[in-house]
Amino acid sequence: MTLNDTAPVALVTGGSSGLGRELVLSLAGRGWTVVTDGRRAERLAELADPGIVTVPGDLTDADHRAALRRELQGLGRLDLLVHNAGTLGPSPLPRLETVTVDQLQQVWRPNIGAPLVLTGELLPLLVASGGILMAVTSDAAVEHYPGWGLYGASKAALEHVVLIYAAENPGLTAYAVDPGDLRTEMHQAAFPGEDISDRPLPETAVPHLLALVDRRPPSGRYRAAEVDLTPAEPVR
Ligand SMILES: NC(=O)c1ccc[n+]([C@@H]2O[C@H](COP(=O)([O-])OP(=O)(O)OC[C@H]3O[C@@H](n4cnc5c(N)ncnc54)[C@H](OP(=O)(O)O)[C@@H]3O)[C@@H](O)[C@H]2O)c1
Repeated sequence: MTLNDTAPVALVTGGSSGLGRELVLSLAGRGWTVVTDGRRAERLAELADPGIVTVPGDLTDADHRAALRRELQGLGRLDLLVHNAGTLGPSPLPRLETVTVDQLQQVWRPNIGAPLVLTGELLPLLVASGGILMAVTSDAAVEHYPGWGLYGASKAALEHVVLIYAAENPGLTAYAVDPGDLRTEMHQAAFPGEDISDRPLPETAVPHLLALVDRRPPSGRYRAAEVDLTPAEPVR
């Protein structure tokens, strides 16, 4: 593999499917070097591109996070950290009074525990690069839909975590981004047995995420669909 040592570097978690996969491919297409992960090594192997480094593993595993950090230290910079990986939890979605502590851990460890700790582990690299910290969250972080409490509360916590990281580190810009409904494996699990073919494909959200990177508005919470797509000078 030949990596461009002057290219900006991103870590996008959860590149093995859905929105993460499309974001990884788009960033690599723009000349970024992109590190990505996911537990399904066979799906990551499909991301054959000279600018993509795949590190299969589970983000809740400290050894896997250490492998990601080693990879990024080797690249010498981290311009963009995207916490995209996430889990929905039980399907069908549970009412809150049925949620067990085990289920809480199954959702909160990947959705909030791992991003919180991984950001801390990568903070020196990210701050040194004057980087962008982005979390893919959800409208369920701020709306109160029956059944979405376990997942939605994890996304609300994730929004706080990335925005507080920015408050604590003035060199850092952080975005909590609601991508909107997307036709992915997770969305299908949220609506088991339903036809979700009317939902937009995940690649439709990517230009909005990239517009945040290009334009670098103030840290905050954004709805992807509302991010202006008027061309800006791409960040290279
Ligand atoms: N689709 C929607 O309508 C929608 C709406 C709002 C927000 N979102 C958010 O968008 C993000 C992407 O989801 P998606 O819709 O694209 O779903 P997806 O296709 O199911 O993708 C989820 C990704 O997260 C990875 N992942 C999950 N747990 C992981 C772990 N412990 N360690 C490493 N990787 C892990 C999965 O990889 P492996 O399975 O290979 O580990 C996969 O690559 C999520 O944060 C989701 O909450 C989605």
